[in-house]
Amino acid sequence: MKTLVIVAHPNLEQSRVNKTWMNRLQQEENVMVHNLYAHYPTFVIDVDKEQQLLLDHDRIVLQFPFYWYSSPALLKHWQDVVLKYGFAYGSQGNKLHGKEFMLAISSGGPAEAYQAGGYNHYSMSELTRPFQATANLCGMHFLPSFLLQGMMSLTEERLQESSEALASYVTNPNLRAGR
Ligand SMILES: Cc1cc2nc3c(=O)[nH]c(=O)nc-3n(C[C@H](O)[C@H](O)[C@H](O)COP(=O)(O)O)c2cc1C
Repeated sequence: MKTLVIVAHPNLEQSRVNKTWMNRLQQEENVMVHNLYAHYPTFVIDVDKEQQLLLDHDRIVLQFPFYWYSSPALLKHWQDVVLKYGFAYGSQGNKLHGKEFMLAISSGGPAEAYQAGGYNHYSMSELTRPFQATANLCGMHFLPSFLLQGMMSLTEERLQESSEALASYVTNPNLRAGR
């Protein structure tokens, strides 16, 4: 199984979580890490190249810090221009059918804030519905998201543990129920 991890962080030098995750995932043999902001700092995306990367992999992981309850802007732009009609959706748009799709997200707010009664009110499953709907429309299997939440209390030990857990998770071939 070939896995593509698309990392979208606008300021990786200042990142704690996403940089650590990215460095860890780069050690995995069957994982290709694709640093989106490094490739497209001016937001001019090579659509053919991005579509080819998707075609070449079985599992697509979008890794990003949660920004305003969604992804950083370049990742939204990437979806807008790469997931084209006739490629990703539409009567002939079946190129992503059957692939697996998952999110790896870090959030400043802690897990307990993302629930009814918490200060963010909504769960991460609710807030990431647009990604799930996108996967559905494109015929991809949406896998449970990998989350690391609560930056204020994040210890170095927990960060290292999460990096190992993420590496195991994205390379686990048996994540789909019933397989
Ligand atoms: C522009 C911006 C928007 C943010 N929006 C949210 C948000 O909506 N919810 C949240 O929990 N954290 C939010 N944060 C905090 C980031 O998610 C957090 O700093 C990041 O996940 C840490 O990962 P890093 O060390 O890789 O940068 C935001 C941070 C920035 C800079």
